[in-house]
Formats: sequence, structure tokens, C-alpha cells
Amino acid sequence: MSLIVLKNIMSQIDLQSALSILKSDGVVGMPTETVYGLAGNIYSDEALKKIFSTKERPFFDPLIVHVAQIEQAKELVLNWTKAMDVLAKKFWPGPLTLVLEKNNRVSDLITSGLTTVGLRMPRHALALKLISEFGFPLAAPSANKFGKTSPTSAEHVRLEFKNEGVFVLDGGECEVGVESTVLYVHQTSDESEVSLEILRAGHIVLSEIIEALDEHNLKIKTGPKKEKVSAPGQMKHHYMPKKPLVFLDDGVDLHCSINQIQNLIKELPDLVESVNIIKPKKIESFRELVLSDKPDEAARMLYASLREVSKGSEDILFFKKKEIHRGEHWEAVLDRLGKAATIKIEK
Ligand code: TXA
Ligand code: MG
Repeated sequence: MSLIVLKNIMSQIDLQSALSILKSDGVVGMPTETVYGLAGNIYSDEALKKIFSTKERPFFDPLIVHVAQIEQAKELVLNWTKAMDVLAKKFWPGPLTLVLEKNNRVSDLITSGLTTVGLRMPRHALALKLISEFGFPLAAPSANKFGKTSPTSAEHVRLEFKNEGVFVLDGGECEVGVESTVLYVHQTSDESEVSLEILRAGHIVLSEIIEALDEHNLKIKTGPKKEKVSAPGQMKHHYMPKKPLVFLDDGVDLHCSINQIQNLIKELPDLVESVNIIKPKKIESFRELVLSDKPDEAARMLYASLREVSKGSEDILFFKKKEIHRGEHWEAVLDRLGKAATIKIEK
């Protein structure tokens, strides 16, 4: 038997195992193009609760629902409009989550009691196969403990949940590497106009979204907003590596800032918005997190690099923002690093 045939058989067996876990209200590690998710049936309260307990995630942080066809998304929202259709057809499958008004098929456990739900269709053959064969959408947050670094390989997920023994469908390394862009879409009474807000930066940037809508003569409503869009889960600290990370603004010198860093870390509480803050006992040695100068490559390698540099014996990690890290294509990487950082030293 050739290696390819054997691999195909093995992946069929894995898919069947994942399906049977989902059918019995369990959770599985699911590959996507962004990061691995911890997936469970949206119609099983038991599975949804298991997602939160496995991740040690507080219930105030809503989950994203993953679909395999646009029809599945339409079934979960109050009103599917032209703008939503344009965005879904342009960017799905892909790293864009649309936050839309939900209908009563969507459990409050998924949305943390909000009236909206985050929906996306992942661009990964195995994820699409899993959702299609299961027959129902899957709720899936990133497959990491709450507040910690997101996983971009099956091995990351296995290690993160080795005590819980989570089964992981191995779909290789994630090609995008950072979580989807989360876009709030509010339909105004005029179908040719929508109001938008990016709640989390990702691979898909605002100019691409505007261009897609523009091609269909859809306008974006600007001007003062009546109310702030609710964006729970956008905590100050998130994605944190095992070692404390210091984010240095462009032009800040590490060695001149040591005293400031030491004092700031000392003043930090142990817990911020349910996220544990790891503090070094001493600050004598440092390791720099160096990323590619290309934003897509930097994003793809970001979480694996954070895990790698955390393995060393140094007391703290640092990242230096540079002149090149400008423009919308760097927003996602800088956002994640800013939150992964224990402290930020501004110029
Ligand atoms: O790429 C991704 O989006 C990955 C993969 C697995 O699909 N998933 C992911 O899920 O990053 P998670 O749970 O780590 O992040 C979901 C975030 C929430 O923390 C919240 O910020 C936002 O999405 N979100 C979800 N539903 C929302 C809603 N109804 N309103 C506002 N924000 C929402
Ligand atoms: Mg996450």
C-alpha cells in the first residue's frame, strides 16, 4: 500500500473519530486557516459548556460559529441582506467573521447573551468536511487556555490540553496564523448602505472590505455612532506566552528602560480581566522576538515564534516595533503582540 493511500485511510479514520465525539456532545480540535479551534455542536448545551470549561474561559466571552455553506449562516440570523451576501461571497471561505443580529436558534451560551452572533466559513478542507458531514454548524474559539497563545499546529493543541485529552484533527500548520478579522455589520433601513466596525484586526483589512462593497454600489455609513458596539472578549491581555513579553515602541531603547520595566511589572496586579499575569522574579536576561519583515509571513509564524522564544532560559522576552511595521497589513500582528505583552513601553 502506498504512503498516500495509507495517509488517506488514516485521515478518514480521524474524521470519523471526530464526528463520533461531536455526536456525543464532546469537543474536538479543528484545523482552520487562521488558528486551530476547539469545536463543539452549536445545538448542544453540553458541548458548549465543555468548550468553556476545557478552555477555562469565562462565559462573558462569545464564541464564533463556523459554517460550511452560506445557507447555514442565513439560518442563524434575523435578516440576511445584500451587503452580508456580498461580503460572504467575496471573503468566504476565509478569515472574516461577520457579527450579525442573531435569531433565536442561536443559544445565549454562544453569544454571551448578546443580540448578535459571529459567523464565519473557514478556508480549510478538513474543517469544511467536518462541518458538512456533521450537518450542523460548529462553535469554536481558538484552542488554547483562556488568555494564552493561540495554536497554529495540531501539536500545539495536544500540548495545551494534554490533561484534558482533547482529540485533534491534524490539518497541518495554519496558513494565515492569526485569528480572523471580526467585522460588525449593521444594516441600516436603506439596503444600499451599511454601518461597519472592525472589532478585531485580522488578515482581511478594511480597505478590501470597502472595495468589495463598493464594487456592488453599497455605501458605508459614516458619521457619529449612536451607541458603542459591544465587543466583549477584546481584553487588554490575551495571547500571552509563558514568559513575560515587553513591547517596545519604535525608538525605545531596551537597556535605558530596564528600571522602568522593573517598576511597571512590580506594580501590576496578578490577575487582569480573568487573565493571569506572569511576573519574572528577576530581570537580568532578555530574548528578542524577531519576526519577518513581511506582514503575512510574520503573522503565519507569530504564535509558533512566541512559543519557541518562551522555551529559553531568559527572564523576559521583548519585541521592538520598527519603522516598517506601519499600515493596515501590520495591524493584526501588532494588535496580538500588544495584548500578548505584559507591558508596553511607549516613546
Ligand atoms: O480565526 C478565528 O476567528 C478563530 C478560528 C478558530 O476560527 N477563532 C477565534 O475565536 O479566534 P475566539 O473565541 O478565540 O475569539 C472570538 C472573539 C471573541 O473573543 C470576541 O472578541 C469576538 O470574537 N466575538 C465573537 N462573537 C461576537 C459578537 N457577537 N459580538 C462581538 N464580538 C464577538
Ligand atoms: Mg482566542
